[in-house]
Amino acid sequence: MNKITVIGAGNVGATAAQLIAAKELANQVVLVDILEGIPQGKGLDMYESQPVHGADSPVIGTNSYDETASSDLILITAGIPRKPGMSRDDLMATNAKIVQSVTKEAVAKSPKAILIVVSNPLDVMTYVALKASGFERHRVMGMAGVLDSARFRTFVSMELGVSVEDITAFVLGGHGDSMVPLPRYSTVAGIPLPDLMDQATIDRLVKRTRDGGIEIVNFLKTGSAYYAPAAASVQMIEAIAKNKKRILPCAVMLEGEYGINGTVVGVPIKLGAKGMEEIIQIKLSADEQAALNKSAADVKATMDKVVF
Ligand code: APR
Repeated sequence: MNKITVIGAGNVGATAAQLIAAKELANQVVLVDILEGIPQGKGLDMYESQPVHGADSPVIGTNSYDETASSDLILITAGIPRKPGMSRDDLMATNAKIVQSVTKEAVAKSPKAILIVVSNPLDVMTYVALKASGFERHRVMGMAGVLDSARFRTFVSMELGVSVEDITAFVLGGHGDSMVPLPRYSTVAGIPLPDLMDQATIDRLVKRTRDGGIEIVNFLKTGSAYYAPAAASVQMIEAIAKNKKRILPCAVMLEGEYGINGTVVGVPIKLGAKGMEEIIQIKLSADEQAALNKSAADVKATMDKVVF
């Protein structure tokens, strides 16, 4: 890729920008924030780490969108994070305004970009970016499923004492509370999870995954998770930048897939140079479909509250 822009130079944005630069996923990385000096300082600091990484992508920090012009991909992390006692939906009104305005400014300079949204509440903010950009749905995706899967994989690894590399996890649905994990499609070296642990253990790990965000918020107190969210975002970006055709769970606008229409929900998609290249549909059991429908209904209820 020629240029990747990261909007929001806070915890998630700065961590993601650094990974993008160190992995040389673009010829240039641009970091944007409204705070004066922060993106410039963090950007220069990252640029100065590039000789150590042996990576040649310069990092530019700025308060203006001029430098973002003609970006191939834009990662949206602008917005406020959660504090203890807050749900993701509590961020809705503030972050909807922010995501709407940064999307409009960014796409005006980069009409061909692919957008990846990280700001919460994730599924709804992805919808906001989709509407504000006017882009086709295959170019606007939200990052949640990769993070939820990574959390689940970590907890399975802790439980069984096996490498995280050999664990795959399959999650559908909205981010967090209404996440729909599919244990029968979650495996350790190809062995389905229900063959390796009892239902009570699976339920415990699923619950910890659902509450994974709040577990970190309660430790940090001043903000929310960012290492794993940034790494998960960069995995999506890498799949696109390298046209890898990876199958990853991402939040996208459904148009009838899984029997859901007009709601942004997490589903497995094929990610390549064009963005979302395919939605992978699998047959769900009645219980799984009911859980997905409930998750989609929760997202829709919040989507309907967005004021454009
Ligand atoms: N334009 C550009 N940047 C903005 C704007 C805006 N209109 N409004 C806010 N920001 C910036 C803030 O100045 C801040 O630097 O967004 C950044 C957010 O950084 P943090 O407060 O550190 O939050 P972070 O942990 O990175 O989370 C960002 O991602 O995971 C989600 O729930 C999380 O919605 C939150 C978002």
